[in-house]
Amino acid sequence: MNRGTLLIHNGHESDPVTGALGVPIVQTSTFDQGDLSQPVEFDYARSGNPTRKALEETIATLESGERGYAFGSGIAAISSALGIFAAGDHIVAAEDIYGGSWRILNTFYRRWGLELTVVDASDTEQIRRAIKPNTKAIFLETPSNPLMKITDLAACIGIAKEAGLITIVDNTFMTPCRQRPIELGADIVVHSATKFIGGHSDVISGLAVTRTKELGQRIYAVQNSFGAVPGPWDVWLVLRGIKTLKVRLDAQERTAQYLCERLLKHPKVEAVYYPGLANHPGKKIHDAQSSGAGAVFSFKTKTAEQAIRFLGKVELAAAAVSLGGVETIASYPVRMSHASIPLAERERLGITDTLIRISPGLEDPEDLAADFEQALN
Ligand SMILES: Cc1ncc(COP(=O)(O)O)c(C=O)c1O
Repeated sequence: MNRGTLLIHNGHESDPVTGALGVPIVQTSTFDQGDLSQPVEFDYARSGNPTRKALEETIATLESGERGYAFGSGIAAISSALGIFAAGDHIVAAEDIYGGSWRILNTFYRRWGLELTVVDASDTEQIRRAIKPNTKAIFLETPSNPLMKITDLAACIGIAKEAGLITIVDNTFMTPCRQRPIELGADIVVHSATKFIGGHSDVISGLAVTRTKELGQRIYAVQNSFGAVPGPWDVWLVLRGIKTLKVRLDAQERTAQYLCERLLKHPKVEAVYYPGLANHPGKKIHDAQSSGAGAVFSFKTKTAEQAIRFLGKVELAAAAVSLGGVETIASYPVRMSHASIPLAERERLGITDTLIRISPGLEDPEDLAADFEQALN
């Protein structure tokens, strides 16, 4: 089956007990274990819950993985996946991974003895050179945020496999409808389900999927021990969001392409960053590993005043953090997601005060284009 069908028909299309077409919300903390003569599947809801199980099986199917795990946020999924490592282990990470992932690696995990080297992962040789005898994993995210740089997943996974390392890929921007790193050999895929997978800006949630059962058991031990699990209502919202992922993404991707092409021609626009554009330096690699350019892009105005004026004047986009919802969101990375990065480092990465990131929603693309135009003018 294609992903669009799998979003609906993945083994959880109807409840075996009642025939309900929605997965029941099992709101309980504990389960009656009867006369204790038989082992039970569910005993305590931190360890497992039927609503959560449906989401965990669904995301494993969609990502072509063996096991799936749901968490209370994307960063809970990421920090729990990183929880399988031990003091003295070394991780190589892309320098432009999500700021929260960088923060947890660089603060808490560093304090607990995990070593970190960050590299420009779009240059795979930098990854190879960063590997040390104690390296255990490579942490990647492609396209990167907010400049949409592309990392060659197959090449990086090849380097990781040669050195016996685990590859972790944050697939939040692409979703399994566009990119499936496990099919390329990655070992763990993580998601902020808060974004496209949930899709409606109404829930914070995270997911992790493993290629093997063994890695799944290691992540389950962290999930159960640290307990960063989501409640069944939030899980249900994510399950509901998943059903419309393909149609949302298809429409949002078309809008992203349309807006980028319009913005490219605007005299106040300095540059547009989107892997759907013919001049994107990573387009060839992106096209080889993904089935679409996704629905997030960024652009630079010529001056910081123009960027700030755009954010103030635009009417159909919320000036907000986050992405992947049905409403268009315009983010200003220097004041939002990347505010904590020192200025010199930000400038080195190209994250300037002229940069705006856009996540188009489901509004009419012509209305968005007209609104962007008036805001720029
Ligand atoms: C790529 C990426 N990964 C992870 C996260 C963290 O997810 P959450 O905010 O759900 O904890 C985000 C949030 O913006 C993100 O953009």
